[in-house]
Amino acid sequence: MFYSTRYTYVYYNPPKYPARRSSFDLFLLASSTLRIPKSTLHTHKFPPISISAGFAGLYQLYRLRALGLSVKIFEAASGIGGTWHINRYPGVRTDCEAVIYQYDLEEVWKDWTWKDKYPSGEEIQAYFRYVDHKLDLKRDIYFNTRVTGAKWDEPSHLWNVSTASGLFVRARFLILCTGSLSKPLIPNIKDLSTFEGRCFHSSHWPQEGLDLTGKHVAVIGTGSSGIQVIENIASQVRHLTVFQRTPNLALPINQSRFDEKEQVKMKEMDLYNHIFRRLPQTFAGFLYEFQPIPFTSATTEAQRLLWESQWKAGGFHFWLGNYPDIFSDETVNREAYAFWRSKVRARIRNPALHEKLAPIIPPHPFGIKQPGLEQGYFEVFDRENVSLVDVKETPIEQVTPNGLAVRGGTIHTFDILVLATGFDSFTGAIIDIDIRLQRPNSTSVIPRQSDWITDCLKFLQDNDYTRIETKRDAEEAWRYLILEIASKRLWHKCESSWYTGSNLASTNTRPVEMLAFSGGLPLYLEKCAEAADNGYQGFELS
Ligand SMILES: Cc1cc2nc3c(=O)[nH]c(=O)nc-3n(C[C@H](O)[C@H](O)[C@H](O)COP(=O)(O)OP(=O)(O)OC[C@H]3O[C@@H](n4cnc5c(N)ncnc54)[C@H](O)[C@@H]3O)c2cc1C
Ligand SMILES: NC(=O)c1ccc[n+]([C@@H]2O[C@H](COP(=O)([O-])OP(=O)(O)OC[C@H]3O[C@@H](n4cnc5c(N)ncnc54)[C@H](OP(=O)(O)O)[C@@H]3O)[C@@H](O)[C@H]2O)c1
Repeated sequence: MFYSTRYTYVYYNPPKYPARRSSFDLFLLASSTLRIPKSTLHTHKFPPISISAGFAGLYQLYRLRALGLSVKIFEAASGIGGTWHINRYPGVRTDCEAVIYQYDLEEVWKDWTWKDKYPSGEEIQAYFRYVDHKLDLKRDIYFNTRVTGAKWDEPSHLWNVSTASGLFVRARFLILCTGSLSKPLIPNIKDLSTFEGRCFHSSHWPQEGLDLTGKHVAVIGTGSSGIQVIENIASQVRHLTVFQRTPNLALPINQSRFDEKEQVKMKEMDLYNHIFRRLPQTFAGFLYEFQPIPFTSATTEAQRLLWESQWKAGGFHFWLGNYPDIFSDETVNREAYAFWRSKVRARIRNPALHEKLAPIIPPHPFGIKQPGLEQGYFEVFDRENVSLVDVKETPIEQVTPNGLAVRGGTIHTFDILVLATGFDSFTGAIIDIDIRLQRPNSTSVIPRQSDWITDCLKFLQDNDYTRIETKRDAEEAWRYLILEIASKRLWHKCESSWYTGSNLASTNTRPVEMLAFSGGLPLYLEKCAEAADNGYQGFELS
């Protein structure tokens, strides 16, 4: 529901955590690896600092530079790209089309040519290298620089920012672009540290690669990361054991090459500009939209034909191009689920697997949890070297030095354990920073949010303000709106999801509540514009 690079527009700060727009200016953190002389930083007159060199941080840097500000980025990783620099597991790939997963800056897109409709992680890394080359970004980025603390100093209206490397800098504004899915979620499994083979989270796949030939490998987790790992390593390993808690209601990606000539033609016809203007007008920031009528108003023939064509189109069409009432009407949702189930079951030869991978009773309403995009995932389970363990039936009890014990006494043994267990979403990376202000502060930004922040900073500059913070009642009103919109849909029918933080239940680090704005991009942008147009009335300025 909140996808494409633009999906972070619709992300929102959870209650009890800082409102994003609390107190910013520009600020940057630094790294001991780069041996930045402290004096260099102190000679800057409180440069704005942005944390992260992901999609959002890079765009923010570009926009603020254009405002004439001297901005620096502090990035914990060793290179640019955020998600795409960090996640190197086999098969990592986008789940939205290349044409929408890129910057809408003409100076960038005009000379870039994509290879795949859904680019691989490697292709996106190449894209970020190209973006850096075009926009000359790296000169303002300090890599290997993890921000650990940010303390607001009220008398001076400055942030005191500290890093893991012991650096300390001051800045007027601090922008957190720390990513919604950047802090890995390590499951709370007994004796995990006693495993003697290699064990890592999917986002920490060894960057130098890993030869899996002849290895016994286990994967815990069947979310989007898990299914990409599983379908890509099954043919390489000696044996693969998949520990599944919830089946992934995955959709076929329908991958293809993105024809070079077609891209040239699209540019000649000025289609790119039309595409970028269209995206924020759609509910989820995709090029397609929900159907204009509910399922219940369509004829049986029309329903069936639509679903067949969406299935064939692949990607998220069957999710984000579907009838809008699949998200609010459980009976309609069941129909969509039954269609999905029949398509998937037809691909699995072993009938014993049908109930595990595509059960009669849906594990949760279709689309309430983000479906993965797959290419050959379901067929993997028919392979002789692959076993599926249903951890709802036989829960994991503990890790052993060479495997994993499940209820009933069975021990599954393997050499490598991959934790494709997801992320401490939205606020995870922010809470890791010791942020101290009058109230906390939060989340990530992507282009339209960056534009909003840029305009806001310009407003502050023009009006000689040095501090901006959301008012408590404005935060509460925003939270109420989020919850009210969410209450009209079926989100609460899902036991475990990173949209609500319920995936953290076992670690219990925060309350479970809808964390994302699910009212669609146009409404979200309207609300953002309103907040600025009314003179930032929801904020305290000084
Ligand atoms: C495997 C994977 C695939 C995805 N595929 C898609 C997709 O196809 N389409 C889509 O729209 N979205 C996708 N997403 C979501 C993706 O995260 C966003 O599309 C986008 O990359 C977010 O950009 P960002 O800059 O907000 O955050 P990120 O790319 O997550 O960047 C955040 C950066 O902040 C840094 N950071 C965090 N904390 C600190 C700190 N304390 N100090 C310094 N640096 C810090 C991190 O190192 C990281 O580099 C995917 C996510 C994952 C995990
Ligand atoms: N471009 C892409 O295709 C792509 C690829 C990867 C990620 N992403 C993005 O990142 C998001 C997160 O994806 P993700 O796969 O990393 O995380 P995720 O969707 O949260 O999936 C985590 C998986 O781990 C399982 N799990 C967690 N703890 C477990 C435990 N203790 N025991 C057993 N199973 C456990 C979960 O089961 P439950 O379902 O039961 O909780 C789930 O199957 C996606 O929704 C998507 O937005 C996109």
